[in-house]
Amino acid sequence: MANVVVIGAQWGDEGKGKITDLLSRSADVVVRYQGGVNAGHTIVVEDKVLKLHLIPSGILYPDTICLIGSGTVVDPKVMLEEISMLKENNIDISGLKLASTAHVTMPYHRLIDMAMEERRGAKKIGTTGRGIGPTYADKAQRSGIRVIDLLDETKLRESIDIPLKENNALLKKIYGRETLDKELIIKEYLGFGKLLEPHVVDCTRIIHQASRRKNNILFEGAQGTLLDLDHGTYPFVTSSNPVSGGACIGAGVGPTLIDRVIGVAKAYTTRVGEGPFPTELSGKINDQLCDKGGEYGTTTGRRRRCGWFDGVIGKYAVEVNGLDCLAITKLDVLDELEEIKVCTSYELNGKKIDYFPSSSEDFSKCKPIFETLPGWKSSTANCKNLDDLPEAAMSYLRFLAELMEVPIAIVSLGANREQTIVVEDPIHGPKRALLGS
Ligand code: IMP
Repeated sequence: MANVVVIGAQWGDEGKGKITDLLSRSADVVVRYQGGVNAGHTIVVEDKVLKLHLIPSGILYPDTICLIGSGTVVDPKVMLEEISMLKENNIDISGLKLASTAHVTMPYHRLIDMAMEERRGAKKIGTTGRGIGPTYADKAQRSGIRVIDLLDETKLRESIDIPLKENNALLKKIYGRETLDKELIIKEYLGFGKLLEPHVVDCTRIIHQASRRKNNILFEGAQGTLLDLDHGTYPFVTSSNPVSGGACIGAGVGPTLIDRVIGVAKAYTTRVGEGPFPTELSGKINDQLCDKGGEYGTTTGRRRRCGWFDGVIGKYAVEVNGLDCLAITKLDVLDELEEIKVCTSYELNGKKIDYFPSSSEDFSKCKPIFETLPGWKSSTANCKNLDDLPEAAMSYLRFLAELMEVPIAIVSLGANREQTIVVEDPIHGPKRALLGS
């Protein structure tokens, strides 16, 4: 048995959905441990493209328990829409469970998220506008509403009293917006509670029961390392902890329960929202990566910023997450390029550095220092084994593995499940995979 954490090693959108979908086959329980409906997984099953924001990708396996953990924030309306979409696609959702202790994104959280962004003007974060920051802020200042509160009218009335007064005051006095009506919210959210009740559980207990049964547990991170509230490019981050350590907090397990940590990274880099991005491209190559990679946000539809692979943040991600191995996704997007650049260090104030600086000001001043590798100029989309890959593509992968000092266990060459090369079983295989070991 092995308990595995899958995290994004860049700024999110690395293709974790596909990798967790692949690994979910070996998992008995899949737990999402942080974030809310800001995430976006696109999963392709046969010819169907399914877009999920909250529900873990493991839902596609009927015998898998899919937990939305305590560390998440849940917009019940969106969750119910996803449930309906899955039912319409004949997907069995009996394994879907929601932590009673997860916090609820309320209508005022969304409004305040958007109003704050507007007020920040040029200094905006570029949030998804889904109310994530304000929900976590209310949680931290102990005025949040939890899923369990939606199941009991008396409790909901009591819990909403102070946050609604405070958030209404913010909306009216600071942001000059309309206030929200208590009774309407209570009615709507009690209705959501009723519909979600069959899924509500004690999340931590279920995980530990599964652990005692020696089940395989997969912890699915949302967003990515550089969007981590503590370890990312603050303030241009999300409000939770996508790093692997977040799994312990958000799911309620100790670090000793985790056997392996797998990082997912694109063969290049993308970012949505504002904030520094040293390897960012512009012009033709940017358009080429964006178009071929379909780089438009699943949640907001925004065009993603594209850049070369950044090995400095890659190495940082290996360290802060304790990565055992990497899954490299979207290698096929680079197929047509004459040459490919990889950032191996930065220039900061005239000096060469090979680490991620802790100061945001310093990071925003970093200029990338690249190594240029030859492209392979042929399609990799149908390669089934490493041996099928063009030599230049193999050299590129080896270069990344050596740069980050971590083996590559999986290579993904397209959105479909079949377009994947599993170099070494990342769950049950030996600690070091073949490529780059
Ligand atoms: P928030 O999470 O909506 O507060 O947004 C904060 C920052 O995280 C913004 O730059 C968003 O674009 C980014 N972000 C949030 N969720 C995702 C995601 O799933 N993928 C990529 N970026 C994200």
